[in-house]
Amino acid sequence: MLIFNNKAGLTKVLSDYLNVKSTVGFVPTMGALHQGHLSLLRQSVKENDVTVISIFVNPTQFNNAEDLDKYPRTLDADVEKIKQVSDAIIVFAPSVNEMYDGNTISSHFSFDGLENQMEGAHRPGHFDGVGTIVKKLFEIVMPTRAYFGEKDFQQLQIVKKMAEKEGMPVIIIGCPISREDSGLAMSSRNERLSTQDRDKAAFIYKTLKEAQEQFDNQSIEDIKKYVYDAFAAHPEFTMDYFEIAAEDDLKPAVIKENRKYRAFVAVFLSNVRLIDNISLN
Ligand code: PAJ
Repeated sequence: MLIFNNKAGLTKVLSDYLNVKSTVGFVPTMGALHQGHLSLLRQSVKENDVTVISIFVNPTQFNNAEDLDKYPRTLDADVEKIKQVSDAIIVFAPSVNEMYDGNTISSHFSFDGLENQMEGAHRPGHFDGVGTIVKKLFEIVMPTRAYFGEKDFQQLQIVKKMAEKEGMPVIIIGCPISREDSGLAMSSRNERLSTQDRDKAAFIYKTLKEAQEQFDNQSIEDIKKYVYDAFAAHPEFTMDYFEIAAEDDLKPAVIKENRKYRAFVAVFLSNVRLIDNISLN
């Protein structure tokens, strides 16, 4: 298995593939891999001649120093998991210096307002950091297709917007959310939950399912009230936001129109911030 921690080595190997017009699939991650990441990898392996995974905990997208500090870094275990998908996957695991050259700051992006909603409003600078690193990675890997999870639905839409606005020749593919048996969306942050908290966290998906069931018959206002009340009755959770928004512009919906909607939630459980979302129609 090929593992690179510098751009030059990776670029050299990839240029050989590009010379013979191979398709390159790319799965950007921050490591601490779980089945959600591996499902993206499997899809990429199926659809492309070669697959690259990046493992890089990107400092510019963390708006909280403690969160960055506590982010799990488990490269050896990650590589073992990748091998189980395929030995032919190329791993790119650069250092902060390799990616930022001593200048750990973000570029500023406009994503036509997508960046001002939900995660953008609650995590200032987050999507500038995501845009900065994804752009750098795309310029190095030059993928034919890049795979992003619907777990981070707003990020998926923002990356699609960036590729479109910057005229990048990459197809962005959205992949379904992988869940634990309990319904809890898989996340590297789940590692920081106690066993009891993991059980409690199943309440998040349970409540999203209820919102989904109510969508046809209830007003958006009533569904939002129901969800806020449901979380308020479980004081172990601290609500960051619950929102119902159209998939294309992600603006909070007030009345239902003939569009695709999703419900989005961000909550704290024992100081761990968890996000999830569900399609409503
Ligand atoms: P990370 O949180 O490691 O996630 C990497 C990719 O895996 C993202 O596209 C994310 O949506 C997807 N993913 C995570 N959990 C998932 C799940 N339960 N089901 C399906 N897909 C899941 O997202 C990032 O890293 C970073 O912001 C990154 C894009 C790498 C830029 O630094």
